[in-house]
Amino acid sequence: MRGWRRKLLPHKHWTVTVTARYCRFMTGFLDKAYRARDAASTRELYDDWAASYDAEVGENGYATPARCAEALKTHVNDMSAPLLDFGCGTGLSGLALKLAGFEIIDGVDLSAEMLDGARRKGVYRRLDKIEAGGALPDADYTAIAAIGVIGAGAAPIDVLHILMRALPRTGKLVFSFNDHALEDPAHEAGVAEWTDCGAARLLVKEHGPHLPGINLNSNVYVLEKQ
Ligand SMILES: C[S@@+](CC[C@H](N)C(=O)[O-])C[C@H]1O[C@@H](n2cnc3c(N)ncnc32)[C@H](O)[C@@H]1O
Repeated sequence: MRGWRRKLLPHKHWTVTVTARYCRFMTGFLDKAYRARDAASTRELYDDWAASYDAEVGENGYATPARCAEALKTHVNDMSAPLLDFGCGTGLSGLALKLAGFEIIDGVDLSAEMLDGARRKGVYRRLDKIEAGGALPDADYTAIAAIGVIGAGAAPIDVLHILMRALPRTGKLVFSFNDHALEDPAHEAGVAEWTDCGAARLLVKEHGPHLPGINLNSNVYVLEKQ
């Protein structure tokens, strides 16, 4: 082997090894995200994921926030009414809502690290760290978003009931269930608890892309409280 190749090869090997490790790191959170966990380990997962969340979901084409924002916009008359982004994470959902034209957005989340990312987006009026199942900010929201929040590895279906109860009559909830959440019949059963008895009207239910980079889709829903 020529001298220059002998010098380059160890370096090349190092580059390949480091790149492979980096790629494992970059996809590691999505691999782990959809396993069932309690509130404490959910917070821990998102605290750890916060620094690389935008890059990882962005490179997989995260489409659900814009789909939810457009679906909600179709059914909201007053775009200046304050809206709550529940489980706002690093603020990708708030950004999509802002881009769709919602003017006043408040955010809440379990994870302080995710909330730091949301603060940097500069689209929220206020941001609050909450406990799982804890009180929501004391404001009269006529619309609430829970985008990418309910399902395996994140918030339980009880959150849907908490958010629906917090809305006034004619208030709207936009939310999504990805394909993993849809595999568990408890999630759609939670929606039916509201619609079957007429306590809410289903305005939107659309299946479409969630993270196309990993071939994952989601349903987007808009419920109107009756
Ligand atoms: C997949 S991220 C979605 C974040 C953001 N909505 C988006 O679309 O990018 C799920 C977020 O929900 C938050 N979360 C999970 N369970 C929650 C709960 N019970 N209450 C509030 N936030 C919760 C997590 O901390 C995380 O930031």
